[in-house]
Amino acid sequence: MAKTRVMYVCGKCGNESPGWLGRCPRCGEWNTFEQQAAAPASSPERPRPGGRRSVPLGSVTGQDDPRIPVNSGELERVLGGGLVPGSVVLLAGEPGIGKSTLVLQLAMYLSAKQGRVLYASGEESARQVGLRARRLGETPPDLMVLAAPSAEEIVAEMEAASPGQVLTVVDSIQAIRLEERAGSAGSLVQVRDSAAAMGRVAKETGTALILIGHVTKTGAIAGPRVLEHMVDTVLYMEGDHYHAHRVLRSVKNRFGSTNEVGIFEMTQEGLREVADPSEVFLAERLVGASGTGVAVTLEGTRPMLVEVQALTSRATPERVRRTANGFDFRRLLLLTAVLSKRVGLRLGHQDVFVNVVGGLTLGEPAADLAVSMAIASAALDKPISADVALIGEVGLSGEVRSVGQIERRVQEAARLGFRLCLVPRSYGRKPRAEGKSELAPVRSLTEAMRVLELA
Ligand code: TYD
Ligand code: MG
Repeated sequence: MAKTRVMYVCGKCGNESPGWLGRCPRCGEWNTFEQQAAAPASSPERPRPGGRRSVPLGSVTGQDDPRIPVNSGELERVLGGGLVPGSVVLLAGEPGIGKSTLVLQLAMYLSAKQGRVLYASGEESARQVGLRARRLGETPPDLMVLAAPSAEEIVAEMEAASPGQVLTVVDSIQAIRLEERAGSAGSLVQVRDSAAAMGRVAKETGTALILIGHVTKTGAIAGPRVLEHMVDTVLYMEGDHYHAHRVLRSVKNRFGSTNEVGIFEMTQEGLREVADPSEVFLAERLVGASGTGVAVTLEGTRPMLVEVQALTSRATPERVRRTANGFDFRRLLLLTAVLSKRVGLRLGHQDVFVNVVGGLTLGEPAADLAVSMAIASAALDKPISADVALIGEVGLSGEVRSVGQIERRVQEAARLGFRLCLVPRSYGRKPRAEGKSELAPVRSLTEAMRVLELA
């Protein structure tokens, strides 16, 4: 017999508990537990004894998931080759970053090329969506808009339009209510259960479903975190509002590899893909200026050259400042300590500012060498030659440590005409082939500074 159970769920991380808790033991947030509507404990169907469902593993390969081609190569890369019919994609990001724009452009493209698309807008009126679409191009007749819908209405439309509907967009999941459930839109139960209802119909009807979800910088809003477990693909859109560049990142993908990124630029006519990001991130470099270095970061499988800028200036005795923009703050503290202690750079009474150009965030230790050398260059007021790329992690002893996929990074630097790449010693010295960058293997920051003629 099905038992009724009451569960409490953390609105931040989705942790479940049979009783209410003031503080979530998993994520440490306070006051995030909400009672989940009582539901019968699921009793998974037991297979009959002796029944067999297994198939030879070799017989199931080679059947690629069918894909719906999308409107840009960047989006295709992040999705792992186009939208999979019946799949559920969560597109999360801060408000105003460009989620609606990205998805509306996709909706317009698919409704012109593939079939009907339903754009369910819980946030903007039909007229507002229409005005935005007009700004982005010609609105195809097969693009339907449903304003202020309930989850039941969306489900009904999806069922009625099937087959033939290729995509359903829900903008945003926090603005949708399932009428049969209690709670206001955006509450954990509403977000989860309405997503589950629409996701089920997406699977049944074979229409792809894109759910837009807002998150704040601290990830404070309940919805998307909980949804991550329920959907096939999770994409995050990042960037800062003062720059035009947007990074679309896959953090989960049942149909492709994760951590792929697509780069876009926000323009007057919507988002435009940036097929060659390195060129963009290096475009405004001042050749011959001190305090700048070029890092080679790997975003997913894709290497990118990015300019790192540093500035040092005499601090007031009371307060020494360190500021990192696009780079981990604690990592910056560590690197400045290593530069002081191991290289003897006098940073103790200096403010240090580090900025990654173009609104990109460097999350990889491989950027350490570039950040360190940019700081050293700034502190000594000696420029680093503009045709040098810097690859390597920096350890606490001031040693330059190996990083993944150096070959790829070096190739990208060579493609962009960089003459020299500083690489960790362990990578070894490879002879310079035609059209390749020269490699300078370095063991430590001190050695790197010598090669760069900073010391
Ligand atoms: P939007 O897609 O509404 O963001 P989200 O859905 O993530 O909240 O985009 C927000 C910003 O993008 C807004 O400030 C206006 C700007 N924008 C452009 O610069 N160009 C355009 O063509 C469009 C449609 C929007
Ligand atoms: Mg929006």
